Parts: sequence; C-alpha cells; structure tokens
Amino acid sequence: MTHYFCQPGSVIGGDVRVPGDKSISVRATILASIAEGPTQIRGFLESSDTLGAVAAMRELGVNIARQGGGKVLIQGVGLECLKAPARALDLGNSGAAMRLLTGLLASQAFDSTLIGDASLMRRPMERVAAPLRQMNADVTTSNGLPPIVIKGGRALRAIEYELPVASAQVKSALLIAGLRADGRTHVIEPIATRDHSERLLRAFGVEILRQGNNVAIEGGQALRGTSLEVPGDFSSAAFFLVLGVLCAQRGLTLRNVGINPTRTALIDLLTRMGADIRIRQKDPPADAPSGSAEPVADIEVRASKLRAIAVPESLVAACIDELPIFFIAASCAEGETLVRGAHELRVKESDRLAAMAQGLGHLGVEHELLADGLWIRGGAGFSGGSVDSHGDHRIAMAFAIASARASGPIEVRDVANVITSFPGFVQTARSAGLQIEAL
Ligand code: S3P
Repeated sequence: MTHYFCQPGSVIGGDVRVPGDKSISVRATILASIAEGPTQIRGFLESSDTLGAVAAMRELGVNIARQGGGKVLIQGVGLECLKAPARALDLGNSGAAMRLLTGLLASQAFDSTLIGDASLMRRPMERVAAPLRQMNADVTTSNGLPPIVIKGGRALRAIEYELPVASAQVKSALLIAGLRADGRTHVIEPIATRDHSERLLRAFGVEILRQGNNVAIEGGQALRGTSLEVPGDFSSAAFFLVLGVLCAQRGLTLRNVGINPTRTALIDLLTRMGADIRIRQKDPPADAPSGSAEPVADIEVRASKLRAIAVPESLVAACIDELPIFFIAASCAEGETLVRGAHELRVKESDRLAAMAQGLGHLGVEHELLADGLWIRGGAGFSGGSVDSHGDHRIAMAFAIASARASGPIEVRDVANVITSFPGFVQTARSAGLQIEAL
C-alpha cells in the first residue's frame, strides 16, 4: 500500500500545470467512439479512470490510438456499429464511465454487464437504471448496486425526466440514451450540474436544446468526428488553488485550467472568505461550434487571511468534488464554517463526509459531522498525525495539502487511487514547494 509522508514548513510558490479534465476526457472517449469518423483529442487525461473508459470502448470494437503527450485518436464507428463485448466491462473506480456507458449500452443490440473496483461496486446505480427503464430499456442492478446487467435489442422511447438528485452523470446517461430514442428526451435538473456533455455533443454536431433547467435532445441525430482540446481539470487545480491561498506568499499560478461556471463555485467561496484569486481568461477558439467551447484561464493565487462563511446550499453542486479541499481551507479560516445539503458526498468514491471528519479529528481540528454536511471551527491550524484516505483520491490529496499548514509531519495512508485523476500529483506538488514523498 502506498502512503504519503509530508513534512511541515513548505515554501510554496511558482507555476503549475494540472493534467486534463477527467469528466471531459471520459465523455470525449465515449462520444468520439460513437461519432462517425475520426476524432483527435489533445490534452487528454491519461489516468486509470480515463484509460478504463478507453479499454471499455476498445472492448466494444472501437480503434483508439494513444499517441503520447495527451494525444488520442479515436476512430468512431457510429451509434450502430459497436460490437458485443466478450466479457464484463470493468470501469475501475469511475462512476462517470459506468453511468454514461449504461445510457449508451441501453440502446444497443447486444447484452452487456458493467462492473468496477470495490469502491464502484458499492455506489448507487438505480438513479440511472430507473429512468432508463422508463425509456423501455432492460437494465438491472443488484439491489441498487453494480453489476449493472443490460439486455440489448430494446427500442427506446423519449421521456421527460425530473432528476431527483442533481447528477451530471445521470443527466448525461439520459441524453446519450436519448440519441437513439423515438422522440425528444427532456431532463429537468433541480440545480444546474456540469454541462460538459451538452458542450461536447454540440461539438460533435448534435443539437441540444436548453430552456432554463430543462435540457432536451431529439432522437435520431448522428455525431460527426471532430477535434477536441481538453482543458486542465479544475478539480485537480483546486488542491493548488487552496495551497496557494493558504501559503503562497509570493503567489502561485495555475496554467490552462477549465473554468466552466458549473464547476467553479470553490472560487466564489474562497473569494467570499477573503482569498486573493485572479482569473486571466483566454479567448475561445474562433472555429468552435456555438455553445461548445469550454472556458479556460490562468489563475493566480496568493496567501490570504481567510474568514469562515456559511456555504449557501445552492452552491454545493458546483463544488461537490472540491468540498474535501474546501474543508481544509475552512480549517484555516477564522471562525465557524457550515456546509449543509451535501448528502451526495456520502456516495462518492468514499463516504467523503465521514472520511474528512475522521482525518480532521486526527489533525486536531474541532468539527462536527452532520448527516448532510460538516461544521468546522477553523483558525487553530493542523497538528501532525496520520490520516486514512479510505482509498479516495480527493481525500488523499486534500490531507497532503493540509501538511503545508501543519505543526508536525502528516502521513496519509492508502493513496494509490490518486492515479485515477491526477497521476503526477506528487511531482506537481513538489514543484510547488510541498515537502511530500510517496512510499
Ligand atoms: C461527474 C459528476 C459528479 C461528480 C463526479 C464526476 C461527471 O457526480 O461528483 O466526480 O463526470 O459527470 P454526480 O453526477 O454523481 O453528481
């Protein structure tokens, strides 16, 4: 088992570049595979989650060439020429790959079974299976959990579906299923979730209609191969954003980061807490189809004195993956921070509310674990200590960052899954000045 050993007293600063966006890389792999003709992708995240999606699409008969340096060439076969897989598709740790593929495979002529690692096999899948059944798909879960078993050969019909939980993965699965449904599929979101699927579908020439919180797709549309540039992952940049805000006296610059507004509530929260964050947005490519470009920026951050805030529930969905590192920032902010409405954190790669509460406890932070959130009294800093990541990449990286403000060394246990989203984390963290070793 791999652990991080982090020493306190780091001097933080410089310039960092984080790897490509995980959500976009997984989507690009799946959508390019069902497009007609080749798609060239640049800036692709080469991590275990995205390579799991690549392996699954190859198993479905798609030719995918990894060309090095984040370049991937996918020879799309169209929506009707995927091949029956010879074995169960193993999506590793990736909830996005499993849920999006369920939406795709529901409309195929063949049967398929989806499995994953121990963490993925514990995650809820009825949220995607139930609406697909309403579309006439034959999708079964095992008491709500994987394996997901899909019987092929079903003709799908369009539905109008109001998401009971804000989930971009479920929305995306239904839009992908809607590509082959008879009629117009509508998904109504209680609160806006990441819209990468909509932007990518437009880039592949598909018409997506949006009216307020209602997003719709007409069945029978084909995707055309294209070329795509994946921006740096905001969720990976978030660790360095907080590191810079906590410690970078002379500033830390994050290059080429995706700043899709459905993802960046962390910037809002930190700014309200008093953080010095400057965004230098880049111009979108002139030839991008309308509504498809992802906004990208360089972000400069500087050490700032933080004050605690109550986090508006309306912002939780747009920082759901950043809450672990937000709790580290909150532990350093003067006063009491309260996050509510974050039940979804309990069903991520780990129970992230419980994992963060436990780790904060080991590092001497006064806190209270709530059913749907966390209360933290910040300002006293972290002691040294040993914390368990529970095999969750974002918990592991969050506690590694905490070491920059700790009074003693921090050990973070069971960190191997950092390769699911950020394979070069240790090197990048060291280049920013963090004293971290993986052993
Ligand atoms: C993701 C959506 C979110 C997020 C996850 C990635 C995606 O999950 O937490 O890390 O790529 O669509 P939900 O759709 O379950 O909210």
